[in-house]
Amino acid sequence: ARKFFVGGNWKCNGTNEEVKKIVSFLNEAEVPSEDVVEVVVSPPFVFLPLVKSLLRPDFHAAAQNCWVKKGGAFTGEISAEMLVNLGIQWVILGHSERRQLLNESNDFVGDKVAYALSLGLKVIACIGETLEQRESGSTIEVVAAQTKAIADKVSNWDNVVLAYEPVWAIGTGKVATPAQAQDVHYELRKWIESNVDAEVASKTRIIYGGSVNGANCKELAAQPDIDGFLVGGASLKPEFVDIIKSAT
Ligand code: 13P
Repeated sequence: ARKFFVGGNWKCNGTNEEVKKIVSFLNEAEVPSEDVVEVVVSPPFVFLPLVKSLLRPDFHAAAQNCWVKKGGAFTGEISAEMLVNLGIQWVILGHSERRQLLNESNDFVGDKVAYALSLGLKVIACIGETLEQRESGSTIEVVAAQTKAIADKVSNWDNVVLAYEPVWAIGTGKVATPAQAQDVHYELRKWIESNVDAEVASKTRIIYGGSVNGANCKELAAQPDIDGFLVGGASLKPEFVDIIKSAT
C-alpha cells in the first residue's frame, strides 16, 4: 500500500508572523499518525530554518526549488547541498509556475530531480498540462513527456513523489473532477509500468494538485490512483488540517 501524502505549497506567501501562526495551528492539529499520512509543508526559502525549528516532529519542511547542480557562482540560487546542510529532506521541483513563468524545460527539471536525489533529498516532482493542451486532447502525451524527462535520468524512484497538477486547475478554483484526476493518475501509473517497471509503478505515490480544498478532498482521495495532494492556497489556512485528515 502507498502511504497517503499531503504537501502544503505556500508559494511566495507569508511574513514571519503569518508563518508562525500557520505552524502553530498545524502543531495543535489532531491528525492521523505518520504511519498513515506523510505531511510536508513548503515555505519560501527564507522561512525554512524558522519552520524547521518550530514544526512538530511528525511533519517535515520542504523547499520549493533548488539549483540544478552543485552550488557555486549562481547568483540568487539555492543549492541542494544547502538544503541537505540545513537538514531539509524534501524539495518540490518542476512546479508549473516555474515551468511557465521561468521557462524551466522538461530536460532541466529532469536534471534537477536527478541531482537532488543524488544528494539524498526526497523530491516532489510536478507535471501537468495547460488548458490548451487538455482541449487539444494531448494531456497524456504532455504528462508522459514530462515524466519521461525524469525517468530518463532517474534510476531509483524510492524518494520520488509525482505530483499531477493540471495548470488550468491551479489557483483557479476549478478543481479537476475526481474522474478527470483519476484518469490521468491511472494513465501515469500505466506509463511508469510500461516504461520504468511494474514495482515502481505500484509503489510510487502520484498526488493531485490544483484547487484542492477541505470540501473537495474526500472524493478525490477516494480514487484508487490518487495517493494524496499538493495543496496551494488552502495550505495556508486551517482547512489544510481537513485535507490531511482525508487520508483516512
Ligand atoms: P492551489 O491549491 O492554490 O490551486 O495550488 C496548487 C499548487 O500549485 C500546489 O503546488
